[in-house]
Amino acid sequence: MTSESATALHQESGAPMSTKHGIVVLDFGGQYTQLIARRIREQEVFSAILPCTATIEEIRAYQPAGIVLSGGPSSVYDKDAPPCDPRVLELGVPVLGICYGMQWLAHAMGGKVERADRREYGRAQLEIEGKSALFTGLPAELKIWNSHGDHVTELPPGFQVTGRTDNAVAAFENAEKKIYGVEFHPEVNHTERGTEILRNFVFQACAAKRNWSRAGFIAESVETIRRQADGARAICALSGGVDSTVAAALVHRAIGDRLTNIFVNTGLLRRNEFEDTLEMLRDRLQLNVMGVDASERFLAKLAGVIDPEQKRKIIGAEFIAIFAEEARTLAAGAQGLPVKFLVQGTLYPDVIESVSVKGPSAVIKSHHNVGGLPKDMPFGLIEPLRDLFKDEVRQIGRELGLPREILTKHPFPGPGLAVRLLGDITPEKLATLRAADAVVVEEIRRAGLYEKVWQAFAVLLPVRSVGVMGDFRTYGSTIAVRVVESQDGMTSDWSRLPMETLERISTRIVNEVPEVNRVVYDVSSKPPSTIEWE
Ligand code: XMP
Repeated sequence: MTSESATALHQESGAPMSTKHGIVVLDFGGQYTQLIARRIREQEVFSAILPCTATIEEIRAYQPAGIVLSGGPSSVYDKDAPPCDPRVLELGVPVLGICYGMQWLAHAMGGKVERADRREYGRAQLEIEGKSALFTGLPAELKIWNSHGDHVTELPPGFQVTGRTDNAVAAFENAEKKIYGVEFHPEVNHTERGTEILRNFVFQACAAKRNWSRAGFIAESVETIRRQADGARAICALSGGVDSTVAAALVHRAIGDRLTNIFVNTGLLRRNEFEDTLEMLRDRLQLNVMGVDASERFLAKLAGVIDPEQKRKIIGAEFIAIFAEEARTLAAGAQGLPVKFLVQGTLYPDVIESVSVKGPSAVIKSHHNVGGLPKDMPFGLIEPLRDLFKDEVRQIGRELGLPREILTKHPFPGPGLAVRLLGDITPEKLATLRAADAVVVEEIRRAGLYEKVWQAFAVLLPVRSVGVMGDFRTYGSTIAVRVVESQDGMTSDWSRLPMETLERISTRIVNEVPEVNRVVYDVSSKPPSTIEWE
């Protein structure tokens, strides 16, 4: 799905940029596949993702300078292990297998892969051996990021080990054939100097040329959107966050006044968010925005619902119902032109964590703007950012001239506080969560950390515990504080906040939010946790 849309965007446009001679990433269903492509694009080299099942002709059509085989959740010995045409090894271009990709290489070329006694998740130490083109210019030891349960236990003929961790072969290669494998993930931010490893593959091994730019992306997108909209009208699900605002700005460039933005108050927004955001979008950005207060509708539909996936789906369906109603009202208005498209600021992580296709990744969560959409939706979708990551979107927004306040805003999920309030949602619990959340954000700003961290927020837990306040026993709620660092939301680590900041947050929440008598700090990375709690 993603590879098709990426390919369509790049190929339809007729823009001057070349889609040839880049790197083709074959997707075995790994969570980080798009991250690989994007790290390559950061080097200004075009990169396309194709499903692992792509035919050799489809791959050849790109005239790739090199091939990357992604990670994936399967084991090469699984009955339904995703396959890949072994002729990719005969294209005469360098190949890099990452995680499952490396295991597939080992298996396909006569080596052996076995289930490990000890699975490797998270951090590990890599010791580099010998002189590999892949590790040119890097120190002999690196901190790396793993996420796998299988190991290469026997090398294929002609291969040698180029890196090890404590308990596994972590890298191998056949230098003559320019075939490389790494069991860890060089594409994620938590692998030290991982980008350099990919850069070495792209430039040293593949000798690729720079041919991809952001300005080119904007020009292509505007052109593609104009063609896709084909004279019709569109509405945009605007939230004032960076994604939807950049999407709106791009679509506005393409179709001007035929775009109407709709900002819905779901009743699940943060404190003052509806009023403040509307004012900023209208007064400062001069956007044509309709504010729709639907809080009562959302809360009625969510009453008594506990299951996180059900919450997300209800919210997705309700959003669409509202957009359909507003579109009918608009069409009945003075200009009469029907609304055919819904613009959303969907990003790649929303897509990759929501789809379950043979090959591409297992479903993690139904992100409201993807998984939660009903099948009989009355709109076509315009999602100009669905191949990009947040920081790429911020750069596009900067290039489009959007204010810093929007570009630096923390991500806020479409389902809002519903996925940060565990258990059933009531107006009283929402008020508690809002008050605690406001304290977290205020204190993070006060400490000068707002722009340094990826997200900072409060979560209301469905547990109560005993406390003592002013000589009285209390039996109150627990707030979890979540502050994470990340570059793209795909992986993240918890922030090592200064103790004084944690102390201020904790004291203020307990003092200022009457229902809360306990505050805990979430010290989980992603993986294995996710950033949001639901
Ligand atoms: P998770 O919780 O999956 O979140 O680690 C990754 C990033 O995505 C944001 N997020 C969402 N954004 N709709 C959105 O637009 C959603 O349903 C949604 N769920 C999570 C989350 O805040 C984090 O930055």
